[in-house]
Amino acid sequence: MSYSKLIPLLQKKGSSLTPEQFQERVNIVFHNHEAIHYDQMHTDMKESLQEQIDLLVSDIQKSITPTKPLKMLDIGCGAGLSSQMLLNSSLGKHVQSVTLLDTSPGMLQKAAEKAKTWNVNYELKNGYLSYVNDTFDVVLICSVLHHIPDLNGFLKQLDAVLNSDGILIHLQDPNSDYLHDAKLLARAKRYADATKNKSKIAKTPASIIPKSVRKWIKKLIGRKDYIDLINDQLLLEKVITKRMTADEIWSVTDIQIEMDKGEENGGISYAFLQEQLVNFQPVSHRSYGFFGLLKSDLSAEFKIEEADCIASNQLNGRNLSAAWIKK
Ligand SMILES: C[S@@+](CC[C@H](N)C(=O)[O-])C[C@H]1O[C@@H](n2cnc3c(N)ncnc32)[C@H](O)[C@@H]1O
Repeated sequence: MSYSKLIPLLQKKGSSLTPEQFQERVNIVFHNHEAIHYDQMHTDMKESLQEQIDLLVSDIQKSITPTKPLKMLDIGCGAGLSSQMLLNSSLGKHVQSVTLLDTSPGMLQKAAEKAKTWNVNYELKNGYLSYVNDTFDVVLICSVLHHIPDLNGFLKQLDAVLNSDGILIHLQDPNSDYLHDAKLLARAKRYADATKNKSKIAKTPASIIPKSVRKWIKKLIGRKDYIDLINDQLLLEKVITKRMTADEIWSVTDIQIEMDKGEENGGISYAFLQEQLVNFQPVSHRSYGFFGLLKSDLSAEFKIEEADCIASNQLNGRNLSAAWIKK
C-alpha cells in the first residue's frame, strides 16, 4: 500500500497537503475523537479479546518462561485496553514496565487514566514507532496494523525495538489471507440469515460502530455525531475543504483494509508477515471472528460454534492473531 492511493480522495476533498500529511492528520484527528467514547464503543473487544490474548500467551509459555522482569511496549495503545488485557494474562505478572505509544494525544490521555491503576511503571509516548529508541522484551500490537500505511517500514522498525528472545503479540488484524474464504463467507451469511441481519461482514472490527451506539453517541454530544466533529476539525485545520463521509474517513484511517472495489485483498496477511519478519520465529498463528463478528456480539448458539472453531485452531476467521519470538 502506498500513500499515492490517497491522492484521488485528497484531490476530491480539496486538500493541499501531501498524501503523508493528509493521512497523518486524518488518522490523528479521527482517533482523538474516537478516544472520547472508545471504551463504550468497543465493549465487544473488551469482552472478546482477553480470551485471544490468553491463548497467545499460553502458546508462548509453551516455548518461553520469563526469567527476568519484562519491559513492554504497546504500539497504538489507544485507551489502554490492550495493555490492560495483557497485564490481566498470566504473562502480566512478569511485566515490570509498560511504554504506551500512540499517535493520538487524546488516546494517550485515556490510557494514562487506566495506567494509574496498574501496578507497573508506565511511560506515555506520543508519536510513531520510529521515535522510540529503547528496546523491549514484549511488544503488543492490538488492532493497529491495519492503520499503518507503510507496513514494510514499520516491521523493520519493529525488529529494531525487540530484544532477542523478545515476544511479539499482535491481534485484531483483518485476516486478509481468508477474507474471501468460502467457508467464512458461508458462515457470515448463515449468521446474517439467522439473525435477519442484512449487514455484510464487518469491514474493520475496530471501527464498525453498532447503530445503537452511534445513536447513543449522537444523543450525548447533541446534533452532531463524531464524524461531523472530525470533519469540523479537519476543515478548521484546512486539511480538507469539503466534508468527508464516514467511509472516506475510514479509507484513510484503516488504510490496509480494502479500498477499491477492484482490489483483491485488504487487511493483514500472515503469509506477508512471515516473509517480512525474517528475524522472528512464529510461535502461534490463530484466528477468530468466524462469523465476521467478535464472540461477544454473537447469539448463544453461534457462540458455541465460534468457541469450537477457536478451540480447533481454525484459521479462516475474520480476524488474525499471532505471536512471534525474536531470534
Ligand atoms: C483501534 S485503536 C486500538 C487501540 C488499542 N490497542 C486497543 O486494542 O484497544 C488503534 C490505535 O492505533 C493508533 N495509531 C494509528 N496509527 C498509528 C501509528 N502509526 N503509530 C502508533 N499508533 C497509531 C490510533 O491512534 C489508535 O489509538
